[in-house]
Amino acid sequence: MAKGDRNEALLEKAGRYLAGGVINHVIHGVLPSDMQPVIARGQGSKFWDVDGREYIDYVMGSGPLILGHAHPEVVAAAQRQVSNSSQFFNLSEPLLELSETIVEAIPCAERIKYTGTGNEATMFSLRLARAFTGRSKILKMEGAYHGTHDYVAWAGRHKEPFEYPYGPPDSLGISDVLGKEVLIAPFNDLEAVAAIVKENREELAAVIVEPVQRNIPPSPGYLEGLRKITRDNDVMLIFDEVVTGFRLAWGGAQECYGVVPDMACLGKVIGGGYPIGAVVGREELFRSVTPEAASLGQTVLQGGTFSGNPLSTAAGAAALGVLQRPGQYDRLNFLGKKLGDGLKELSQMLELPAFVPQEGSLVDILFIDRPVLHYRDTWAADADMTYRFKAGLIRRGIWAVPGGPKMYVSLAHSEEDIDLTLQAAEESMRDLR
Ligand SMILES: Cc1ncc(COP(=O)(O)O)c(C=O)c1O
Repeated sequence: MAKGDRNEALLEKAGRYLAGGVINHVIHGVLPSDMQPVIARGQGSKFWDVDGREYIDYVMGSGPLILGHAHPEVVAAAQRQVSNSSQFFNLSEPLLELSETIVEAIPCAERIKYTGTGNEATMFSLRLARAFTGRSKILKMEGAYHGTHDYVAWAGRHKEPFEYPYGPPDSLGISDVLGKEVLIAPFNDLEAVAAIVKENREELAAVIVEPVQRNIPPSPGYLEGLRKITRDNDVMLIFDEVVTGFRLAWGGAQECYGVVPDMACLGKVIGGGYPIGAVVGREELFRSVTPEAASLGQTVLQGGTFSGNPLSTAAGAAALGVLQRPGQYDRLNFLGKKLGDGLKELSQMLELPAFVPQEGSLVDILFIDRPVLHYRDTWAADADMTYRFKAGLIRRGIWAVPGGPKMYVSLAHSEEDIDLTLQAAEESMRDLR
């Protein structure tokens, strides 16, 4: 077999059996076959496709792999647990160890409830908020992603303006009825939120926000402002920290920006690379999910076969144990800044209009001649240039998917990895001119 043949053959098989030949049709559908590795193994900052082609990885499993692929301590913890069974549907020591770590670390956390994924975590947090307040509406920000369920898949992907607070669904198959329950405001716009909250406060259960929305950082004072508006109007504030939890800081975005919400959703990093999700918050918010509440028939329904399973929690506890060591966040943020500063300098040197958002180890690039404050600003970015830039990276062995997640820097990335990435970025940017 010639080099590249095995990858091609497996892609054909994918086309025959998988819907659309991909695992995520919204992201991977846009890539031609020479940019679609079938991955054989990962180690540290890199992975290799089935033909042995090496990539420096900035997708990192869509964010969970903050220590890189197959970190030895996480592998050892998972192997230990696997040989003692991967699944109990009951309490276990790894579950309690991870719970203690999370509740002690996250400022808003007094109790934790596990889910199987981040998607379920946001779904359940909104149900808890509705149950606690006795109100039904929620407010989310335009362009935010909180998963794919029916209460959040609104106004996240559209390309045409609409009049706030009612936006279009992001998917076919979502009932119009929910369009009246999900209110939409632009990110980084406190006036808009204040007006919508005031108008709807009798019916509004919660405001849910990604503290860093996709790749857009919060403007100074924005999260504080959301906290004040929600508190003044007796509405729950939920931080979706599926991405930012244990990534921006040990205490997540709450610690990083100094704003404590009522509840937070977690996922990704807390599972050490294994499937997980969780909701944390004040104790009183979780009284509806106790055995007492269930026995009274006054309960919020939540649960799942794999929620809090021993394998994900053992891997998660091991990963957080490594992350907790002194200096880890300084190192992670240093690497993120090196990549972000490097991309900024290159675009300036080559006179390409670019906005490079960088918050800690989250880095991205948009080809646009002004800063991006909220989702509609991204419409002016040159999507074709972004695509060609990232395609250039992929063809040079740097895995950063156009239209996919932002670039996730991990503790496994070396300074040499970042230097190689910036070298590839320079070549790829030169091709854009
Ligand atoms: C901010 C945010 N919330 C929720 C989710 C959904 O998490 P999961 O993919 O684990 O269901 C994601 C996934 O990328 C996310 O980025």
